[in-house]
Amino acid sequence: MRKAKIIVTRRWHEGVEAKLCELFDTQLNRDDHPMSVAELQDALQSADAVLPTVSDRIDAEVLGAGPIHAKILASNGVGFNHIDLEAAKAVGLTVTNTPEILTDCTADLAMTLLLGIARRAGEGERHLRANAWTGWRPTHMMGAMVTGKTLGVVGLGRIGVAVARRAHLGFGMRILYYNPSPVRADVVQALDAERCDSLETLLRGADFVSLHCPSSPQTHHLMNADRFKLMRENAFLINTARGNVVDPEALIHALKNGEIAGAGLDVYPAEPAVPEALLDLENILLLPHLGSATLETRVAMGMRVAENLQAFFSTQEPPDRLG
Ligand code: DGY
Repeated sequence: MRKAKIIVTRRWHEGVEAKLCELFDTQLNRDDHPMSVAELQDALQSADAVLPTVSDRIDAEVLGAGPIHAKILASNGVGFNHIDLEAAKAVGLTVTNTPEILTDCTADLAMTLLLGIARRAGEGERHLRANAWTGWRPTHMMGAMVTGKTLGVVGLGRIGVAVARRAHLGFGMRILYYNPSPVRADVVQALDAERCDSLETLLRGADFVSLHCPSSPQTHHLMNADRFKLMRENAFLINTARGNVVDPEALIHALKNGEIAGAGLDVYPAEPAVPEALLDLENILLLPHLGSATLETRVAMGMRVAENLQAFFSTQEPPDRLG
């Protein structure tokens, strides 16, 4: 039987690539370059499956170029705002993602940012590497206490819950949450979490605000100038969700004018570009979209893509079908 032809848009872990090569007629991206619009269009016109990552924009332009041969877009990542689902459906493409397996990893990174910005870890390391450290002194680089503070979780889905669990059980934090739909009572109870009836209420009451909502027209610039003004002056914003959930100009203004104490970001509106003004600020901890970047998780994500493809090519029903 003919093996399905698949095109992988970036380098994946070698073990996952080997698995894909064993199962399918696989075209790898050996030099790991970001594929151009034309390359993505060619891939969709020649392969049975295309395996994009969250950094490949599969929009109406990419999908509208010509007759699409591919039947499935098996994306390596949980977020799917890089894919125009309507346009994909219109050309008969099934779309899958990789939910659940990166929950813990992303929650760990949210805590890394939260602790790192509160305790000035990035700033401290830069200070030390610049040979500027003159020794211990009582006034040196005082940060903010994390233990016992209040964490506001915006979006109490899988990742939001995992962050809240770490914060509550590990750091004795009080948990506030804002979620547009009801959250299961046992989940809320286990976290001793308090529901806020609006985002505004949460912002007023939290020492740390961690964003865990999907990117959508409703969440675009959810954190805007008016909402930064509602946050406490000693509060911190953490974003491991998507860059466009935060208005970057409003964030820069809030950080420069002391409306908030600091921020920790893993995601940006136009990755890999990072707004220049953020790079000059000390009260921000910046990471390059590392939420799922552990060996274990990246292997699991790749294998989950392989499972989706196997199911699709044998039964047409992949476990992680979107839409
Ligand atoms: C995702 O999967 O959506 C993350 O942002 C990258 O792993």
